[in-house]
Amino acid sequence: MANKKNDVVRPEDMPRITTMELAKKFIDEQVEKIRNQVGDKKVLLALSGGVDSSVLAALLIKAVGKQLYCVHVNHGLMRKNESEGVVEVFQKELDANLIYIDATDRFLGKLKNVAGPEEKRSIIGKEFIEVFAEEARKLKGVKYLAQGTIYPDIIESKKGHKAHHNVGGLPKDLKFKLVEPLELLYKDEVRVVGIALGLPESMVYRQPFPGPGLGVRCTGAITRDRLEAVRESDAILREEVEKAGYTDKIWQFFTVIPNMCSVGVKNDHRVYDWCVIIRAVNSVDAMTATVPELPWELLKTVTDRILKEVDGVCRVAYDLSPKPISTIEWE
Ligand code: XMP
Repeated sequence: MANKKNDVVRPEDMPRITTMELAKKFIDEQVEKIRNQVGDKKVLLALSGGVDSSVLAALLIKAVGKQLYCVHVNHGLMRKNESEGVVEVFQKELDANLIYIDATDRFLGKLKNVAGPEEKRSIIGKEFIEVFAEEARKLKGVKYLAQGTIYPDIIESKKGHKAHHNVGGLPKDLKFKLVEPLELLYKDEVRVVGIALGLPESMVYRQPFPGPGLGVRCTGAITRDRLEAVRESDAILREEVEKAGYTDKIWQFFTVIPNMCSVGVKNDHRVYDWCVIIRAVNSVDAMTATVPELPWELLKTVTDRILKEVDGVCRVAYDLSPKPISTIEWE
């Protein structure tokens, strides 16, 4: 699998998909390619609800309709209310075959006491594949696994910077063949294709969210209470950014809780609690990123609310590091 991925190279003469016309041409080509590849067989798709998997689902629904089975795995590392939203949109609006699995205990059990970022990614990736395998067995006759691999995933994997759960590494016992129609596209192109497929802008311009979810934003070994604190602080940040009218002005923003504590004073008592990092970046394709100058009032409001409302936190900081040298996620 890894060798196959190393062979994937975007042709130099492939035009950047920036217009509806180019996107429709891409879609027509891919629909035909997918139909030829898949025939009348069932296709299984990991629907996280992020841009890539949503666009992939829409493309596959167009190509093979009800032959597609979308599986949404709640690995317990989703943002607040995110899984509920995925079920709502895809069952109601897109009329997709959608299977919802709450695998929180299973994932968190496997991740217990695991601190290394690559090891965490690997465990989450493997667990995902296992869950799919179980669903495929239940569904009977699933031959294909559709994956929302995009070109930056392939570039980063080739450079050896990180393992992506959706690139390579399928266990040998799995008989799935892969369908990866977005693998030559950059993120901005995936969005144009999504609009051309008729997906709502709110979905297409949704922020990227890593496959391993909040697991990469809760650095070191994940604990349920720290995970809950990341989820709550993230929800507060999103709420306040939205109120301030900045949601569309920032490419990606979230909170992180590193695996370290800091001294603070709460109700006249010394505490040794977590630090929440606010991370916000502007980018085009995630390969480079700059840090926006968020209004001071917004940062202060978010800080006050997190310190007041999120258990176990005694400090909040704003990360000013651009990519490179830093990556967007803290891992
Ligand atoms: P980094 O941290 O490498 O992140 O600067 C670049 C962008 O990719 C997102 N990201 C992921 N997206 N699966 C994804 O689909 C992943 O495993 C993954 N890891 C990071 C990250 O949020 C940022 O937008």
